[in-house]
Amino acid sequence: MHEGLEGKGAREERRNAMGGDVWRVFPEGFLWGAATSSHQVEGNNVNNDWWDWEQLPGKVAHGDKSGDACDQYNRYRQDFEMARDLGHNAHRLSLEWSRIEPEEGRFDQGAIEHYRDVLGTLKSLGIATMVTLHHFTNPRWLAAKGGWLRPEVVGLFERYSRHVAVELGDLVDLWVTINEPMVYATQSFLFGVWPPEKKSVVLAFRVAKNLAKAHGRAYHAIHELLEARGMRPLVGIAKNMMVFDPKRPESRWDRAVASKIDRIFNKSFLDALTTGVMAFPLVRRETDPKLAGTQDFIGVNYYSRTLVGFNIRKPQTLFIDMAVKEDVEKNNLGWEIYPKGIYRILMSVKEYGLPVYITENGIATTDDKQRERFLVSHLREVASAIADGVDVRGYFHWSLVDNFEWKEGFTPRFGLVEVDYKTQARIVRPSARLYSEIIRTGSLPQEHLQ
Ligand code: GAL
Repeated sequence: MHEGLEGKGAREERRNAMGGDVWRVFPEGFLWGAATSSHQVEGNNVNNDWWDWEQLPGKVAHGDKSGDACDQYNRYRQDFEMARDLGHNAHRLSLEWSRIEPEEGRFDQGAIEHYRDVLGTLKSLGIATMVTLHHFTNPRWLAAKGGWLRPEVVGLFERYSRHVAVELGDLVDLWVTINEPMVYATQSFLFGVWPPEKKSVVLAFRVAKNLAKAHGRAYHAIHELLEARGMRPLVGIAKNMMVFDPKRPESRWDRAVASKIDRIFNKSFLDALTTGVMAFPLVRRETDPKLAGTQDFIGVNYYSRTLVGFNIRKPQTLFIDMAVKEDVEKNNLGWEIYPKGIYRILMSVKEYGLPVYITENGIATTDDKQRERFLVSHLREVASAIADGVDVRGYFHWSLVDNFEWKEGFTPRFGLVEVDYKTQARIVRPSARLYSEIIRTGSLPQEHLQ
């Protein structure tokens, strides 16, 4: 196992050795890297539900289609060497289920060989691997049979996870079963803005329950298969965590809905994986004792804050209105830049008593100076949370390279490295160099803290 899994005591000592100057110092063995997902970077994932959806007019901004994306399916070595040159010691990526199992029950050995090479390349460069099994996309055959709405998906996901554990398990340091379950459930089944465009609270939480069950089954399968081979896998999810504050802080109703939505969106899924009790609004509460304790770490994806207000005319969204705060700095997608939020979120997951990895954090911007400020201000808050006792063991910036931002297409620029989509050239941004310097020194540069 890589050395990111350093004990608490060692960090404690290190903090003391720094004479109290704790907020800008990261622990030895901290994992530093960037995150991506298959559909957003690989290109030509022609066998999944997103691919089909993108071909329909009006679905993705500017008529963009993922197409070749960053062509990382072919250019991974070059991209990983670049990450290594930038000092990254870890990398998060996802496997494309539709490549590994292109037809129900038929597993493709070529895809496995490809991912063995991808992960082997990372390992040979000295980069620890964090592997996501599901990052929003589904094989076409699965979508056609009802996807995550159907109870069968749980067993199908377990079978896929088993196959991956057997074939690739020796090359994986950290496992993320599901990326952002609540984002997937709400975008695709409540707000209906992603495929399959359903708009129902009941369906959204039915999906959330299936995601929780599928995670639980995969968690045990990975542990069982790899422990039998003498390995000690670490398995979790990547949970999108959003700060919800009341629109009108003086309103008791707004405060009540803000805390309610925080519980539902941020905590109910983590709670299910902690206690085994799946308690989601409007769907039957279920308990599965085997789901309890199925996280070895908590993966936190943090981007922004939303203000929430009570609105009697919105039963379809549980009487909740959402808005972005006015007069604040925003990214190119209109999301508030709120560094304090990452501190608040980290403090809020302390209750689970598990190690934490920041599995995503980043900014869509064409102003790289803004990305530099984002990086430093957020890492400063991460350092504060570490100093205040949160066991944070790694940070994965979203993203290594610009990529296909789902419904928003190619316009948002999240990369530390720019991609020229016409030529597939990679252009390292100054923010990537700054990140590299932070990694090298394990601290935040004084001049950027002003
Ligand atoms: C996350 C998601 C990523 C990426 C990022 C930026 O919700 O996991 O795939 O798109 O947001 O919006």
